[in-house]
Amino acid sequence: MAPTNEQIAAPKKNVPTFSPKDVTVLFVLGGPGAGKGTQCANLVRDYHFTHLSAGDLLRAEQNREGSEFGNMIKEYIRDGKIVPMEVTVQLLENAMTDVMEKDKSGKGKFLVDGFPRQMDQALKFEETVCPSKFVLFFDCPEAEMQKRLLERGKTSGRSDDNAESIKKRFKTFVDTSMPVVDYFDGQGRVVKVVATKSPDEVYKETREKLEARLGKDF
Ligand code: C5P
Ligand code: MG
Repeated sequence: MAPTNEQIAAPKKNVPTFSPKDVTVLFVLGGPGAGKGTQCANLVRDYHFTHLSAGDLLRAEQNREGSEFGNMIKEYIRDGKIVPMEVTVQLLENAMTDVMEKDKSGKGKFLVDGFPRQMDQALKFEETVCPSKFVLFFDCPEAEMQKRLLERGKTSGRSDDNAESIKKRFKTFVDTSMPVVDYFDGQGRVVKVVATKSPDEVYKETREKLEARLGKDF
């Protein structure tokens, strides 16, 4: 379809890089330790999504030799604070571009895990990268998440899987990330899954809810 004059006239930054007609983006949210990564791995296996974890991308950038953001990211992650969104949005866009260039079909399906954690990330990403379909939200009580994170901390090597950082991450989640979930919920764009049970049981509910929303072949 020929672009309208309005689209031609619009400044580039107001046009998302990817169209939601070609690219499916599901945001995946939940507190730290809610099981986002575990469930994303299941969905990748069964539905061929590309899994992009914002936290993993930030840790990779932190460790990349010569990164101008390395030290800044390190401090933010240890303190459980949200990294300035320009960095995270750009890392996600770069990762999506890599996948789309290799694939050639022009179509893509992404699980964007641990994002958006703050309203500015949500607005910026949807304006400049790609509007999302909805948020898949894993709802889990703090006590359960804390237990999981402390267990994971024995082997994860993560600088933020310790009692002090976990406390800060919970506070950031409640103060800064839950408003994002509420914002999308107000638009009817949240699929909520109870994440307290075993990984298999959580996954069963995840599949049922996603199939109800997207159809069997999503
Ligand atoms: O999702 P994950 O627990 O791996 O994120 C680790 C940390 O990375 C967060 O506590 C935060 O400091 C940073 N982060 C961020 N913005 C995101 C995702 C993660 O600043 N959207
Ligand atoms: Mg994770």
